[in-house]
Amino acid sequence: MGTVGGGTVNVLKRNAEEIARRAGRGVVITHAATRDINKPRICDTSGITLTTDPQAVVNDPEVQIVVELIGGDGLARELVLAAIDNGKHVVTANKALIAKHGNEIFARAREKGVMVAFEAAVAGGIPIIKAVREGLAANQIEWLAGIINGTGNFILTEMRDKGRDFAGVLAEAQALGYAEADPTFDVEGIDAAHKLTILASIAFGIPLQFDDCFTEGITKITREDVAYAEELGYRIKHLGVARRTTAGVELRVHPTLIPERRLIANVDGVMNAVLVKGDAVGPTLYYGAGAGAEPTASAVVADLVDVTRTLTADPENRVPHLAFQPDALSDLPILPVAEIETAYYLRLQAADKPGVLADVTRLLGDSGISIEAILQKEPVGDSEATVIILTHRVQEAKMDYAIGAIEGLDSIGGEIMRIRLETLDAD
Ligand code: HSE
Repeated sequence: MGTVGGGTVNVLKRNAEEIARRAGRGVVITHAATRDINKPRICDTSGITLTTDPQAVVNDPEVQIVVELIGGDGLARELVLAAIDNGKHVVTANKALIAKHGNEIFARAREKGVMVAFEAAVAGGIPIIKAVREGLAANQIEWLAGIINGTGNFILTEMRDKGRDFAGVLAEAQALGYAEADPTFDVEGIDAAHKLTILASIAFGIPLQFDDCFTEGITKITREDVAYAEELGYRIKHLGVARRTTAGVELRVHPTLIPERRLIANVDGVMNAVLVKGDAVGPTLYYGAGAGAEPTASAVVADLVDVTRTLTADPENRVPHLAFQPDALSDLPILPVAEIETAYYLRLQAADKPGVLADVTRLLGDSGISIEAILQKEPVGDSEATVIILTHRVQEAKMDYAIGAIEGLDSIGGEIMRIRLETLDAD
């Protein structure tokens, strides 16, 4: 009965008639658990039995579907498994729970013949699970890339548009109810990694492998990087990228330069977007609110309708949790980040003297790295110039080696800033 719980009650009550017309029967909340019964709420709880004991809800014999909106993967996991063991269907918005324990939860749900629906776990109100799992079922999904954390996108947008500082924007996102209980989950990319793990599994038919997702946050991105990227025709977005290659699956969350002409580069504020490339359909883009009470409730209630419609269906004939039949999941490995291939933005501080750039470009060339663009800013005051280099695609291991060698040059000061770059071309 927090932000999303309150939103769910409101949407179910306000749209009860439309929902019943769609589901074929009414959906009624009878029993809800809350930490503090007397807390002021955004919803009317009349007709709902309120309790501080969540076990009372999952053990209530009258309850057919349990909606888990607690978050985290401790108590939430216990309650979801208990609900399944009691033969109840589950709807959850909990990305951490599904990304980390989904394999176990789905196996248990199969044993018990119940459904676990989790549309609200990824990209809030955007029906992206439904789109990838069902709407794109004809396709080989080749890759997907998404802005799947509203808080991080809000921070990057405000930094670019208003030059605001990081901490101030984060505090605003927390006040608006977008940020996670622990906001490092937003800015360090963990929340996005939970969501990307889920998307990759339903796109490629692989088990959930959250621990193998490469995760880099946005805390090191400076105003200058945002401005240099813009000068070169790019925006910096915190992107989750999943790509299937013949060697394995790339699964990575990191700040990313993307061409500003792409629609997804213009997704700003708390909005989310996911670009999915299927072999038959080509690129498709899904856009909408990724957080907030009613946008997330929109996905929760859609799952309630879905579950209600198929309550009486033979469990063998329901849409599989991870889109592919459980005995047909692929064992394609998740690639270590050293094996991924991408283009790069490099920012370095170089002594303003003859031959320095020649040394840098030689070391890049020695690693087989081709340069796409170079921008040198005039030194201000001292003798060090900022140099920005964009490269063509190369394996990360080769870039690691080249960066090590360049940082070893006497004429280069400090660490090189590296931001990965994706052109997100249709092919
Ligand atoms: N903290 C998340 C976000 C909430 O900012 O996108 C929705 O999952």
